[in-house]
Formats: sequence, structure tokens, C-alpha cells
Amino acid sequence: MKTVLIINGEKYWKEYFAGFDVVQKKVQTSEFIIKDSSLYAVDANGVCKPDIIFWRLGAVNPNPRYRNILELIDYSGVPCINSASTLLMGYERLTMLNTLKKLGLPVINFNAATGTQHLKNLEMKFPFVTKVGNHHGGYGKSLVSTAEQWEELKDLLFIHQDYVTIEKFIDYKYDIRYLAVNDKVWAMKRRGKYWKANSLTQEYEIIIPEDEWIKKVQLLQTHIKADIVAIDVLEKQNGEKVILEYNDIPGLSGFPEDVKRELSVIVKNK
Ligand SMILES: Nc1ncnc2c1ncn2[C@@H]1O[C@H](COP(=O)(O)OP(=O)(O)OP(=O)(O)O)[C@@H](O)[C@H]1O
Ligand SMILES: [Mg+2]
Repeated sequence: MKTVLIINGEKYWKEYFAGFDVVQKKVQTSEFIIKDSSLYAVDANGVCKPDIIFWRLGAVNPNPRYRNILELIDYSGVPCINSASTLLMGYERLTMLNTLKKLGLPVINFNAATGTQHLKNLEMKFPFVTKVGNHHGGYGKSLVSTAEQWEELKDLLFIHQDYVTIEKFIDYKYDIRYLAVNDKVWAMKRRGKYWKANSLTQEYEIIIPEDEWIKKVQLLQTHIKADIVAIDVLEKQNGEKVILEYNDIPGLSGFPEDVKRELSVIVKNK
């Protein structure tokens, strides 16, 4: 029986792999070993020698160790969904944004500094959004609307040792996720309680994907060789659209059941 190792991810994934030995481990509490060209994952529950890895890391704080794990998976040749080299490409937020920019896709311009002591030089017209480091799930991101808020936030950000980007706040009508799995594309509008559509999400609506945006997400998918990828698009009040980011381990909540089935079939076929 083949062993599927699921890294993090929802509990429900186990149900999609009947006929396989399914092991689920958290990257935060696991170590990886390569011995005589074989890959092993070890945690308090035991050792696993995976035939395939299904990488579903969500919004955990980034850690250089996770990059090392992906490099070892790549080295071992054990297939991973997405591939370890694709996941390494999207690991750093700045690399991810550069990839979109180089493909000619419409991303939001930003001011940036490698250290927080230069924050005062990055200011732009209010309202704007500050993003610190490489975090997911809305963490490390703040909307600044007034000089007083900016003053407060600057003091708090000063203690971080990470890079910062500042971009204008887009007063969007919709936050739309275009999700590509294999050769299929879905689209979903989302709305949050506050300005972040992905935290405290209140509304989901599956919509018909537009051809132009199907092409864009597939251009990216081909370029980064992804089995699954999502782009998050903000539609402005005037109808213009910009890409906020791409996500190579996208959350699937709100998407139809077919998405999970399609994804699990990719894993099984590998
Ligand atoms: N410049 C902006 N203008 C308006 N809304 C924004 C802007 N940047 C981010 N947002 C909102 O905040 C949400 C979170 O921001 P973003 O997607 O950049 O980071 P993240 O969610 O932390 O990353 P990830 O999607 O990888 O978990 C977005 O989904 C969007 O709704
Ligand atoms: Mg996001």
C-alpha cells in the first residue's frame, strides 16, 4: 500500500485517499531525514516513509526550516503536490510578486524597504496598506487611514526585523479568487467583515470565470508548473482589476466539492 503524507491541512483530507496509507503530520513538530537516498518524516507519533507528499501548509509563521524541508523533498525525488520546486518559488512574498510582474500580469505597485528604520520614507497618500515580512492569512498587514494611525503603527513596526512594503489601499468592489486545478478553473467572490476579504470572511459566491482571467491564471500555472494555484484579484469601483498575489497552497473553503476531488486525484495519480 502506498503512503500519502499530508503536511498540515484540514482533517477531512484523509477521507479522499481510500486504498492508501494516509499519515498526517504538522511541519512545526516534524523533522525530515534523508538516509541512503530515502526520505523519512518523524514526529512524536512515529516515522513515515512517504511515497507522495501532499503539502497543505496554511497560515503558519514562516520559518527557514520549512524551506530546508522543501529542498530535501526536492532532493529525495519523492513527488509533492505542488512540486517542492514550485512551492520554493512561491515561498517568499517578494519572489511571488516578482514572478507575477515579470509575466506582465497587473500587480499593485509598492514602496518598500529592507528595514523598518526607513518607514518614514515610504509614506504615501492615505489610505494605504502596510505589509511586513512573509506572513499569510492577513497577518502582518494593516490599513492606515490617518496620520495618527501611521504614527502609532510606525512605532510598533520599528521593533520588527523584517522588510516592509506599502501600497495604496484599493477600495475594491470584490475580492475574487481565481483557482486553477489541473486544467480546470473556478472563480469565487469573497467579502470579509472588515477590509481583509480573507479574514472573518462573511460571504462567498461562486461566479463564472472570465476568459481573460482564466488565461491569466493559466499563464501563471504553466510558468510555475503548478498542479494547483490561485490568484487573488481586486475589482475596483470602476471595474478595473489588479492582482494582489498568487497562492500555491490556496485555501479551498467556499469552493465546490469537485475542487477537492480533482486535487486528490492529482495526488493519487502521482
Ligand atoms: N492594497 C490593498 N487594498 C485593499 N485591500 C487589500 C490590499 N491588500 C490586501 N487587501 C485585503 O487584505 C486581504 C489580505 O491581504 P493579502 O492577500 O495581501 O495577504 P495574506 O492574506 O496575509 O496572504 P495569503 O493570501 O498568502 O494568506 C486581501 O485578501 C484583501 O482583501
Ligand atoms: Mg491573500
